[in-house]
Amino acid sequence: MELTSLHSRSTFAGKRVLLGVTGGIAAYKAAVLLREFQKLGATVQVVMTEQAQQFVGSMTFAALTNMPVRTSLNDEQAELSMGHIELARWADVFIIAPASANTIAKLAYGIADNLLTTIALASEKPLFVAPAMNQKMWAHTATQENIATLRQRGIAIIGPGNGEQACGDVGSGRMSEPEEIVATIAAQMSADVIQAPELSGSNAEHLPLLGKKVMLTAGPTREPIDPVRYISNHSSGRMGYALAEQFALVGAEVTLVSGPVCLQPPAGVTKVSINSAEQLLAAVMAQISEQDIFVSVAAVADYRPATVAEQKMKKNPAAINSAEKQNLQIELTENPDILRTVSGLMHDRPFCVGFAAETEKVVEHARNKLLNKRLDMICANQVGSEQIGFGDKPNALEVLWQDGSTSIAMTDKTDLARQLVPVITERYCATITS
Ligand code: CTP
Repeated sequence: MELTSLHSRSTFAGKRVLLGVTGGIAAYKAAVLLREFQKLGATVQVVMTEQAQQFVGSMTFAALTNMPVRTSLNDEQAELSMGHIELARWADVFIIAPASANTIAKLAYGIADNLLTTIALASEKPLFVAPAMNQKMWAHTATQENIATLRQRGIAIIGPGNGEQACGDVGSGRMSEPEEIVATIAAQMSADVIQAPELSGSNAEHLPLLGKKVMLTAGPTREPIDPVRYISNHSSGRMGYALAEQFALVGAEVTLVSGPVCLQPPAGVTKVSINSAEQLLAAVMAQISEQDIFVSVAAVADYRPATVAEQKMKKNPAAINSAEKQNLQIELTENPDILRTVSGLMHDRPFCVGFAAETEKVVEHARNKLLNKRLDMICANQVGSEQIGFGDKPNALEVLWQDGSTSIAMTDKTDLARQLVPVITERYCATITS
């Protein structure tokens, strides 16, 4: 499969996009989003709520689309021909961006008190919702329950992102960037991935991972030497967190078992925190029988100190007074291999994806791990140089499975994750149907 095709123009060329804009400061970003769809060859029609017009005038969208913007159910002329039903039928895909907490609540309860929510009720087309609101409103149980309801119904929730908000708060609630929204919809609509050439019917058939349980491990482990020291590695957790976010975006129920990292868990993802490899194994095994897919991204320390000193270890007194350097030996014992334990399960074995960070002979070592650990798939990457690998650095992936492989060219980790999730989805679907 040609990965670049996943985000190709062909996804949107000739497609009719109905863009619903609701009230919020992010409404101005909807104009950028509209242009992105147009650049990819889509025809866009805009529906605005009354509140949205307080933030951006309908003239802006009318000028950009060269079409009247629909704002009201009480438009006699349009409704003579059942305008709301016509619009619902006209669209190939319906995206509400930004979606306010209020509109999300209405969608969850089937309230149709304006043109936009009426179309949402009348539409059978794939619906994508990009929430935007203050972080407290997003975190509120009411909003989270409404979002869960929409997800269960097969509606794809895109974002929201983390960061500084217009109100000065910092947190989750910013509307995802237009490019990210377009890429997410493209990934989900791509016929290559979902094997659904025509868009029709409900969202569920376009979202093969909808409601599937995906568990990921991410970050480093810390293996204690004494109460203040440990052995660890450079893993930042970014790859695992980016993948967790993308799985959540395509409707999966995501559990992220994470070592200590400086990252916020993505919206909608359940995080379980661990420190050591043994804790990681316990956290994974506690829930593994429910999982459909297991993605092991964590950089697990292969060894841990054989004994952990109860008190802080003191320097050898001989070393303090001696000019000669003294060596210290720490005996290490092997840690459990979490991925091998999961892939070796006889019952309820999930689809198993491993990662292999290598400094040399990347593909050769990765293929050995694929076979030795009896994995369904392995993603190999080169680490160890200044420019690529850990942390913020970009990376490239060689993705291998039993009888095939694909490459993902050097890019940042969010983009890698965006490209990798469709590949995992495709292999997973092929495995469960074979
Ligand atoms: N892994 C694991 N538990 C371990 C070691 C590794 O679950 N104790 C998983 C990693 O999360 C990764 C895969 O196994 O998905 C490969 O990890 P890697 O460190 O590349 O390989 P190792 O098996 O540890 O072999 P080596 O260190 O010799 O390359």
